[in-house]
Amino acid sequence: MSALTALRGPAATLTDDPFDKPSRGCLAFHEDALVVIEDGIIRAFGPYAELAPSLPDGLEPVHYPHHLIVPGFIDAHVHYPQLQVIGAYGTQLLDWLTTYTFPAEQGFADEGHAARVAKLFLRELLRAGTTTAMVYCTVHPQSVDAFFAESERFNTRMIAGKVLMDRHAPAALLDTAQRGYDESLALIERWHGRGRQLYCVTPRFAPTSTDAQLEAAGALLKTRDDLFLQTHLCENTDEIAWVRELFPARQSYLDVYAHAGLVRPRSMFGHAIHMHEGDFCTCHQSGAALAHCPTSNLFLGSGLFPLFQAVDPRRPVKVGLGTDVGGGTSLSQLQTLNEAYKVAAMAGHKLDAVQAFYLATLGGARALHLDDRIGILAPGREADICVLDPHATPLMDFRAGYCASVEELLFMLMTLGDDRAVRATYVAGAPVYDRARAGDPFRSFAEA
Ligand code: GUN
Ligand code: ZN
Repeated sequence: MSALTALRGPAATLTDDPFDKPSRGCLAFHEDALVVIEDGIIRAFGPYAELAPSLPDGLEPVHYPHHLIVPGFIDAHVHYPQLQVIGAYGTQLLDWLTTYTFPAEQGFADEGHAARVAKLFLRELLRAGTTTAMVYCTVHPQSVDAFFAESERFNTRMIAGKVLMDRHAPAALLDTAQRGYDESLALIERWHGRGRQLYCVTPRFAPTSTDAQLEAAGALLKTRDDLFLQTHLCENTDEIAWVRELFPARQSYLDVYAHAGLVRPRSMFGHAIHMHEGDFCTCHQSGAALAHCPTSNLFLGSGLFPLFQAVDPRRPVKVGLGTDVGGGTSLSQLQTLNEAYKVAAMAGHKLDAVQAFYLATLGGARALHLDDRIGILAPGREADICVLDPHATPLMDFRAGYCASVEELLFMLMTLGDDRAVRATYVAGAPVYDRARAGDPFRSFAEA
Protein backbone atom coordinates (compact mmCIF):
# COMPACT_ATOMS: atom_id res chain seq x y z
CA MET A 1 0.00 0.00 0.00
CA SER A 2 1.44 3.37 -0.94
CA ALA A 3 1.03 6.31 1.42
CA LEU A 4 -0.69 9.27 -0.25
CA THR A 5 -1.03 12.69 1.39
CA ALA A 6 -1.62 16.21 0.14
CA LEU A 7 -1.01 19.77 1.33
CA ARG A 8 -3.13 22.70 0.23
CA GLY A 9 -2.51 26.45 0.49
CA PRO A 10 -0.55 29.30 -1.06
CA ALA A 11 2.77 27.89 -2.32
CA ALA A 12 5.93 29.22 -3.94
CA THR A 13 9.00 27.52 -5.37
CA LEU A 14 12.02 28.60 -7.35
CA THR A 15 12.20 27.08 -10.81
CA ASP A 16 15.35 28.71 -12.22
CA ASP A 17 18.39 30.83 -11.32
CA PRO A 18 17.44 34.48 -10.67
CA PHE A 19 21.10 35.51 -10.70
CA ASP A 20 21.15 34.45 -14.34
CA LYS A 21 17.62 35.32 -15.52
CA PRO A 22 15.07 37.98 -14.53
CA SER A 23 13.71 37.13 -11.09
CA ARG A 24 10.07 37.29 -12.07
CA GLY A 25 10.42 34.28 -14.38
CA CYS A 26 12.19 32.17 -11.77
CA LEU A 27 9.43 31.84 -9.16
CA ALA A 28 6.28 29.72 -9.48
CA PHE A 29 3.52 30.89 -7.15
CA HIS A 30 -0.01 29.57 -6.77
CA GLU A 31 -2.47 31.40 -4.52
CA ASP A 32 -4.22 28.10 -3.83
CA ALA A 33 -1.92 25.17 -4.56
CA LEU A 34 -1.98 21.45 -4.04
CA VAL A 35 1.12 19.36 -3.30
CA VAL A 36 0.40 15.66 -3.74
CA ILE A 37 2.86 13.35 -2.00
CA GLU A 38 3.23 9.60 -2.38
CA ASP A 39 5.74 7.56 -0.38
CA GLY A 40 7.72 10.70 0.50
CA ILE A 41 7.99 11.93 -3.10
CA ILE A 42 6.09 14.86 -4.64
CA ARG A 43 3.82 13.40 -7.31
CA ALA A 44 2.05 16.60 -8.38
CA PHE A 45 2.29 20.33 -7.70
CA GLY A 46 0.02 22.97 -9.16
CA PRO A 47 -3.23 24.91 -8.75
CA TYR A 48 -5.69 23.20 -6.41
CA ALA A 49 -8.57 23.67 -8.87
CA GLU A 50 -6.66 21.71 -11.55
CA LEU A 51 -5.31 18.90 -9.39
CA ALA A 52 -8.09 18.34 -6.84
CA PRO A 53 -10.29 16.26 -9.18
CA SER A 54 -7.53 13.67 -9.50
CA LEU A 55 -7.29 13.09 -5.72
CA PRO A 56 -8.72 9.75 -4.61
CA ASP A 57 -12.09 9.90 -2.86
CA GLY A 58 -11.76 10.52 0.85
CA LEU A 59 -8.25 12.03 0.71
CA GLU A 60 -8.57 15.35 2.53
CA PRO A 61 -5.53 17.64 2.01
CA VAL A 62 -3.98 19.27 5.08
CA HIS A 63 -5.07 22.85 4.54
CA TYR A 64 -2.83 25.84 5.30
CA PRO A 65 -4.80 28.93 4.24
CA HIS A 66 -3.00 32.23 4.99
CA HIS A 67 0.35 30.41 5.06
CA LEU A 68 3.05 29.92 2.43
CA ILE A 69 4.24 26.43 1.48
CA VAL A 70 7.88 26.46 0.29
CA PRO A 71 10.64 23.86 -0.14
CA GLY A 72 12.51 23.01 3.07
CA PHE A 73 15.54 25.23 3.60
CA ILE A 74 19.10 24.06 2.94
CA ASP A 75 21.91 25.16 5.27
CA ALA A 76 25.17 24.79 3.36
CA HIS A 77 27.53 25.26 6.33
CA VAL A 78 26.96 24.68 10.05
CA HIS A 79 28.74 23.14 13.07
CA TYR A 80 26.45 21.20 15.39
CA PRO A 81 29.01 20.95 18.24
CA GLN A 82 29.16 24.73 18.45
CA LEU A 83 25.61 25.29 19.74
CA GLN A 84 27.05 25.93 23.18
CA VAL A 85 29.26 28.81 21.97
CA ILE A 86 26.76 30.62 19.77
CA GLY A 87 26.93 34.32 20.60
CA ALA A 88 30.32 34.17 22.40
CA TYR A 89 31.66 37.67 23.03
CA GLY A 90 34.59 39.61 21.78
CA THR A 91 36.91 37.75 19.39
CA GLN A 92 37.79 37.27 15.75
CA LEU A 93 38.27 33.92 14.04
CA LEU A 94 41.62 32.59 15.31
CA ASP A 95 41.09 33.75 18.93
CA TRP A 96 37.47 32.61 18.79
CA LEU A 97 38.61 29.10 17.82
CA THR A 98 41.10 28.80 20.70
CA THR A 99 39.02 30.63 23.33
CA TYR A 100 35.60 29.13 22.74
CA THR A 101 35.39 26.56 19.99
CA PHE A 102 38.18 24.10 20.65
CA PRO A 103 37.26 23.79 24.37
CA ALA A 104 33.59 23.17 23.44
CA GLU A 105 34.47 20.55 20.82
CA GLN A 106 36.49 18.52 23.34
CA GLY A 107 33.26 17.62 25.12
CA PHE A 108 32.21 15.49 22.14
CA ALA A 109 34.54 12.70 23.17
CA ASP A 110 31.60 11.85 25.45
CA GLU A 111 28.93 10.01 23.44
CA GLY A 112 26.16 11.05 25.81
CA HIS A 113 26.98 14.73 25.39
CA ALA A 114 27.17 14.31 21.59
CA ALA A 115 23.77 12.60 21.56
CA ARG A 116 22.16 15.35 23.69
CA VAL A 117 23.49 18.16 21.51
CA ALA A 118 22.63 16.33 18.26
CA LYS A 119 19.07 15.93 19.53
CA LEU A 120 18.71 19.63 20.29
CA PHE A 121 20.41 20.62 17.03
CA LEU A 122 18.15 18.52 14.78
CA ARG A 123 15.06 19.90 16.50
CA GLU A 124 16.30 23.47 16.20
CA LEU A 125 16.90 22.96 12.47
CA LEU A 126 13.39 21.60 11.98
CA ARG A 127 11.94 24.45 14.03
CA ALA A 128 13.71 26.80 11.61
CA GLY A 129 12.29 24.98 8.56
CA THR A 130 15.67 23.56 7.56
CA THR A 131 15.48 20.03 6.18
CA THR A 132 18.99 19.56 4.77
CA ALA A 133 22.29 20.79 6.19
CA MET A 134 25.98 20.28 5.51
CA VAL A 135 27.31 19.72 9.00
CA TYR A 136 30.70 19.68 10.71
CA CYS A 137 30.91 17.23 13.59
CA THR A 138 34.10 17.08 15.70
CA VAL A 139 37.27 15.03 15.36
CA HIS A 140 35.60 12.24 17.36
CA PRO A 141 33.91 9.54 15.21
CA GLN A 142 31.26 9.14 17.92
CA SER A 143 30.15 12.74 17.24
CA VAL A 144 29.31 11.67 13.68
CA ASP A 145 27.47 8.55 14.83
CA ALA A 146 25.41 10.65 17.26
CA PHE A 147 24.50 13.13 14.55
CA PHE A 148 23.52 10.64 11.86
CA ALA A 149 21.60 8.50 14.37
CA GLU A 150 19.47 11.52 15.27
CA SER A 151 19.04 12.51 11.62
CA GLU A 152 17.95 8.98 10.81
CA ARG A 153 15.20 9.28 13.43
CA PHE A 154 13.69 12.17 11.45
CA ASN A 155 14.70 10.73 8.05
CA THR A 156 16.28 14.08 7.17
CA ARG A 157 18.66 14.29 4.22
CA MET A 158 21.83 15.39 5.99
CA ILE A 159 25.43 15.65 4.88
CA ALA A 160 28.04 15.44 7.65
CA GLY A 161 31.54 14.35 8.50
CA LYS A 162 34.25 13.93 11.09
CA VAL A 163 36.60 16.91 11.34
CA LEU A 164 40.18 16.14 10.31
CA MET A 165 42.91 18.00 12.28
CA ASP A 166 46.47 16.81 12.73
CA ARG A 167 48.15 20.03 13.92
CA HIS A 168 47.66 23.48 15.52
CA ALA A 169 44.83 22.43 17.84
CA PRO A 170 44.72 21.04 21.43
CA ALA A 171 46.11 17.49 21.66
CA ALA A 172 42.67 16.14 22.60
CA LEU A 173 41.32 17.27 19.22
CA LEU A 174 44.10 15.91 17.02
CA ASP A 175 44.11 12.81 14.85
CA THR A 176 46.85 11.87 12.39
CA ALA A 177 46.71 11.65 8.61
CA GLN A 178 46.39 7.86 8.81
CA ARG A 179 43.94 7.74 11.72
CA GLY A 180 41.78 10.45 10.18
CA TYR A 181 41.72 8.48 6.93
CA ASP A 182 40.85 5.19 8.61
CA GLU A 183 38.15 6.68 10.84
CA SER A 184 36.60 8.59 7.94
CA LEU A 185 36.57 5.48 5.77
CA ALA A 186 34.82 3.48 8.48
CA LEU A 187 32.22 6.27 8.86
CA ILE A 188 31.72 6.41 5.08
CA GLU A 189 31.07 2.67 5.05
CA ARG A 190 28.65 2.98 7.98
CA TRP A 191 26.69 6.03 6.90
CA HIS A 192 27.14 7.16 3.29
CA GLY A 193 23.96 6.34 1.40
CA ARG A 194 22.29 4.69 4.42
CA GLY A 195 18.72 5.97 4.08
CA ARG A 196 19.07 9.68 3.33
CA GLN A 197 22.43 10.19 5.09
CA LEU A 198 25.43 11.37 3.06
CA TYR A 199 29.07 11.61 4.09
CA CYS A 200 31.30 14.64 3.78
CA VAL A 201 35.10 14.50 4.05
CA THR A 202 35.85 17.37 6.45
CA PRO A 203 39.38 18.77 6.84
CA ARG A 204 38.67 21.74 9.14
CA PHE A 205 40.88 24.24 7.28
CA ALA A 206 44.38 24.35 5.84
CA PRO A 207 46.14 25.56 9.04
CA THR A 208 45.03 22.51 11.07
CA SER A 209 45.99 19.88 8.48
CA THR A 210 49.44 18.89 7.24
CA ASP A 211 50.03 18.27 3.54
CA ALA A 212 49.83 14.56 4.35
CA GLN A 213 46.37 14.94 5.85
CA LEU A 214 45.06 17.05 2.96
CA GLU A 215 46.33 14.38 0.59
CA ALA A 216 44.61 11.71 2.67
CA ALA A 217 41.38 13.72 2.31
CA GLY A 218 41.91 13.71 -1.46
CA ALA A 219 42.46 9.95 -1.36
CA LEU A 220 39.20 9.49 0.57
CA LEU A 221 37.32 11.41 -2.13
CA LYS A 222 38.74 9.05 -4.74
CA THR A 223 37.15 6.05 -3.03
CA ARG A 224 33.66 7.07 -4.25
CA ASP A 225 32.39 9.57 -6.82
CA ASP A 226 29.50 10.88 -4.77
CA LEU A 227 31.25 11.89 -1.54
CA PHE A 228 31.13 15.50 -0.39
CA LEU A 229 33.96 17.74 0.85
CA GLN A 230 33.70 20.70 3.20
CA THR A 231 36.27 23.06 4.61
CA HIS A 232 36.89 26.76 5.29
CA LEU A 233 38.48 29.19 2.85
CA CYS A 234 39.62 32.86 2.85
CA GLU A 235 37.52 33.84 5.88
CA ASN A 236 39.78 36.20 7.82
CA THR A 237 42.85 38.19 6.85
CA ASP A 238 45.04 36.83 9.72
CA GLU A 239 44.02 33.31 8.76
CA ILE A 240 44.95 33.95 5.11
CA ALA A 241 48.38 35.33 6.12
CA TRP A 242 48.94 32.20 8.24
CA VAL A 243 48.08 29.92 5.31
CA ARG A 244 50.56 31.84 3.13
CA GLU A 245 53.27 31.19 5.75
CA LEU A 246 52.39 27.52 6.12
CA PHE A 247 52.12 26.78 2.38
CA PRO A 248 54.62 29.15 0.69
CA ALA A 249 54.74 27.04 -2.49
CA ARG A 250 51.02 27.38 -3.21
CA GLN A 251 49.67 30.19 -5.40
CA SER A 252 46.65 30.92 -3.23
CA TYR A 253 44.68 29.55 -0.29
CA LEU A 254 42.35 27.74 -2.72
CA ASP A 255 45.40 26.31 -4.49
CA VAL A 256 46.36 24.53 -1.23
CA TYR A 257 43.12 22.56 -1.54
CA ALA A 258 43.34 22.19 -5.34
CA HIS A 259 46.82 20.69 -4.99
CA ALA A 260 45.37 17.94 -2.77
CA GLY A 261 42.51 17.19 -5.19
CA LEU A 262 39.84 18.78 -3.00
CA VAL A 263 38.38 21.29 -5.49
CA ARG A 264 35.67 19.45 -7.40
CA PRO A 265 31.92 19.00 -7.73
CA ARG A 266 30.32 18.46 -4.27
CA SER A 267 33.09 20.49 -2.58
CA MET A 268 31.73 23.29 -0.38
CA PHE A 269 34.07 26.05 0.77
CA GLY A 270 32.81 28.09 3.69
CA HIS A 271 33.09 31.90 3.68
CA ALA A 272 35.41 32.65 0.68
CA ILE A 273 35.25 36.35 1.49
CA HIS A 274 38.69 37.49 0.37
CA MET A 275 39.04 35.81 -3.03
CA HIS A 276 40.89 36.71 -6.23
CA GLU A 277 39.26 36.54 -9.63
CA GLY A 278 41.42 33.50 -10.45
CA ASP A 279 39.96 31.65 -7.44
CA PHE A 280 36.40 32.30 -8.65
CA CYS A 281 37.40 31.00 -12.10
CA THR A 282 38.82 27.83 -10.53
CA CYS A 283 35.56 27.26 -8.63
CA HIS A 284 33.51 27.88 -11.77
CA GLN A 285 35.56 25.46 -13.85
CA SER A 286 35.68 22.74 -11.22
CA GLY A 287 32.02 22.89 -10.12
CA ALA A 288 33.06 23.56 -6.51
CA ALA A 289 30.68 25.72 -4.45
CA LEU A 290 30.93 28.48 -1.85
CA ALA A 291 28.87 28.91 1.31
CA HIS A 292 27.74 32.47 2.03
CA CYS A 293 27.62 32.83 5.83
CA PRO A 294 26.59 36.44 6.49
CA THR A 295 25.65 36.29 10.18
CA SER A 296 28.99 34.69 10.99
CA ASN A 297 31.01 36.98 8.75
CA LEU A 298 29.48 39.99 10.48
CA PHE A 299 29.59 38.58 14.00
CA LEU A 300 33.27 37.56 13.80
CA GLY A 301 34.17 40.73 11.88
CA SER A 302 35.51 38.62 9.01
CA GLY A 303 34.28 40.74 6.10
CA LEU A 304 31.61 41.03 3.41
CA PHE A 305 31.20 38.11 0.98
CA PRO A 306 31.03 39.52 -2.60
CA LEU A 307 27.96 37.51 -3.60
CA PHE A 308 27.24 39.30 -6.86
CA GLN A 309 30.88 38.93 -7.92
CA ALA A 310 30.78 35.20 -7.11
CA VAL A 311 27.66 34.56 -9.21
CA ASP A 312 28.73 36.78 -12.12
CA PRO A 313 26.96 35.15 -15.11
CA ARG A 314 30.17 35.30 -17.18
CA ARG A 315 31.67 32.59 -14.93
CA PRO A 316 29.07 31.82 -12.28
CA VAL A 317 30.15 30.04 -9.12
CA LYS A 318 27.56 27.96 -7.27
CA VAL A 319 26.67 29.52 -3.91
CA GLY A 320 24.71 28.11 -0.96
CA LEU A 321 23.58 29.89 2.20
CA GLY A 322 25.21 28.86 5.49
CA THR A 323 24.33 29.78 9.05
CA ASP A 324 27.82 28.75 10.30
CA VAL A 325 26.55 28.42 13.86
CA GLY A 326 28.38 28.86 16.31
CA GLY A 327 30.28 31.63 14.43
CA GLY A 328 26.88 32.53 13.02
CA THR A 329 24.19 33.84 15.32
CA SER A 330 21.03 32.06 14.13
CA LEU A 331 19.98 28.70 12.70
CA SER A 332 17.16 30.44 10.83
CA GLN A 333 17.71 30.80 7.09
CA LEU A 334 15.23 33.70 7.20
CA GLN A 335 17.48 35.60 9.61
CA THR A 336 20.51 34.60 7.55
CA LEU A 337 18.85 36.10 4.45
CA ASN A 338 18.08 39.23 6.43
CA GLU A 339 21.83 39.72 6.95
CA ALA A 340 22.64 38.62 3.37
CA TYR A 341 20.47 41.47 2.12
CA LYS A 342 22.39 44.00 4.22
CA VAL A 343 25.79 42.61 3.19
CA ALA A 344 24.81 42.94 -0.49
CA ALA A 345 23.50 46.46 0.19
CA MET A 346 26.89 47.45 1.64
CA ALA A 347 28.40 46.61 -1.75
CA GLY A 348 25.77 48.60 -3.62
CA HIS A 349 23.65 45.59 -4.67
CA LYS A 350 20.04 44.73 -4.02
CA LEU A 351 19.37 41.09 -3.17
CA ASP A 352 15.74 40.62 -4.17
CA ALA A 353 13.46 38.15 -2.42
CA VAL A 354 13.47 35.66 -5.29
CA GLN A 355 17.29 35.64 -5.38
CA ALA A 356 17.35 35.30 -1.61
CA PHE A 357 15.00 32.30 -1.47
CA TYR A 358 16.93 30.74 -4.36
CA LEU A 359 20.07 30.75 -2.17
CA ALA A 360 18.17 29.07 0.68
CA THR A 361 16.51 26.39 -1.50
CA LEU A 362 17.22 25.52 -5.15
CA GLY A 363 20.55 27.36 -5.26
CA GLY A 364 21.74 25.43 -2.21
CA ALA A 365 20.55 22.17 -3.77
CA ARG A 366 22.42 22.97 -7.00
CA ALA A 367 25.55 23.89 -5.05
CA LEU A 368 25.37 20.43 -3.45
CA HIS A 369 24.50 18.68 -6.74
CA LEU A 370 21.30 17.46 -5.09
CA ASP A 371 18.80 19.46 -7.16
CA ASP A 372 17.44 16.27 -8.70
CA ARG A 373 16.19 15.40 -5.19
CA ILE A 374 15.61 18.50 -3.05
CA GLY A 375 15.25 22.29 -3.13
CA ILE A 376 12.16 22.61 -5.32
CA LEU A 377 8.46 21.76 -5.26
CA ALA A 378 8.12 19.60 -8.37
CA PRO A 379 7.06 16.06 -9.27
CA GLY A 380 9.77 13.51 -8.52
CA ARG A 381 11.48 15.56 -5.80
CA GLU A 382 11.64 14.46 -2.17
CA ALA A 383 8.82 16.07 -0.18
CA ASP A 384 10.89 18.19 2.23
CA ILE A 385 8.64 21.15 2.86
CA CYS A 386 8.40 24.19 5.13
CA VAL A 387 5.07 25.86 5.88
CA LEU A 388 5.70 29.53 6.64
CA ASP A 389 3.32 31.69 8.67
CA PRO A 390 3.43 35.33 7.52
CA HIS A 391 1.16 36.24 10.45
CA ALA A 392 3.37 34.74 13.15
CA THR A 393 3.75 37.93 15.19
CA PRO A 394 1.54 41.00 15.55
CA LEU A 395 4.03 43.09 13.58
CA MET A 396 4.36 40.50 10.79
CA ASP A 397 0.58 40.16 10.65
CA PHE A 398 0.22 43.93 10.35
CA ARG A 399 3.01 44.25 7.75
CA ALA A 400 1.65 41.30 5.73
CA GLY A 401 -1.54 43.30 5.26
CA TYR A 402 0.48 45.80 3.21
CA CYS A 403 2.24 43.23 0.99
CA ALA A 404 0.87 43.48 -2.54
CA SER A 405 2.71 40.53 -4.09
CA VAL A 406 4.32 37.23 -3.16
CA GLU A 407 7.72 38.88 -3.64
CA GLU A 408 6.84 41.50 -1.03
CA LEU A 409 5.57 38.80 1.30
CA LEU A 410 8.78 36.79 0.90
CA PHE A 411 10.85 39.89 1.54
CA MET A 412 8.84 40.66 4.67
CA LEU A 413 9.35 37.05 5.85
CA MET A 414 13.12 37.24 5.44
CA THR A 415 13.34 40.65 7.10
CA LEU A 416 11.04 40.10 10.09
CA GLY A 417 10.83 36.31 10.20
CA ASP A 418 12.73 33.65 12.11
CA ASP A 419 11.76 30.30 13.68
CA ARG A 420 8.51 31.89 14.90
CA ALA A 421 7.43 32.12 11.25
CA VAL A 422 7.69 28.35 10.72
CA ARG A 423 4.33 26.69 11.25
CA ALA A 424 5.29 23.14 10.19
CA THR A 425 8.12 21.16 8.66
CA TYR A 426 7.63 18.05 6.52
CA VAL A 427 10.41 15.56 5.88
CA ALA A 428 9.89 13.11 3.02
CA GLY A 429 6.18 13.90 3.32
CA ALA A 430 5.93 13.37 7.09
CA PRO A 431 4.96 16.25 9.44
CA VAL A 432 7.90 15.88 11.83
CA TYR A 433 7.38 19.36 13.31
CA ASP A 434 4.14 21.20 13.86
CA ARG A 435 4.23 24.28 16.08
CA ALA A 436 0.51 23.98 16.75
CA ARG A 437 0.65 20.37 17.96
CA ALA A 438 -0.26 20.02 21.63
CA GLY A 439 2.51 18.63 23.83
CA ASP A 440 5.71 17.79 21.93
CA PRO A 441 5.64 19.54 18.52
CA PHE A 442 8.16 16.98 17.17
CA ARG A 443 7.46 13.49 15.93
CA SER A 444 10.04 11.05 14.62
CA PHE A 445 9.56 10.04 10.98
CA ALA A 446 8.16 6.68 11.99
CA GLU A 447 5.63 8.29 14.37
CA ALA A 448 4.66 11.09 11.98
N1 GUN B 1 37.76 28.09 10.42
C1 GUN B 1 38.23 26.95 10.94
N2 GUN B 1 37.36 26.41 11.82
C2 GUN B 1 36.30 27.22 11.83
C3 GUN B 1 35.06 27.20 12.53
O1 GUN B 1 34.76 26.31 13.32
N3 GUN B 1 34.20 28.24 12.29
C4 GUN B 1 34.50 29.23 11.42
N4 GUN B 1 33.63 30.20 11.21
N5 GUN B 1 35.66 29.28 10.76
C5 GUN B 1 36.54 28.29 10.96
ZN1 ZN C 1 32.38 27.11 9.77
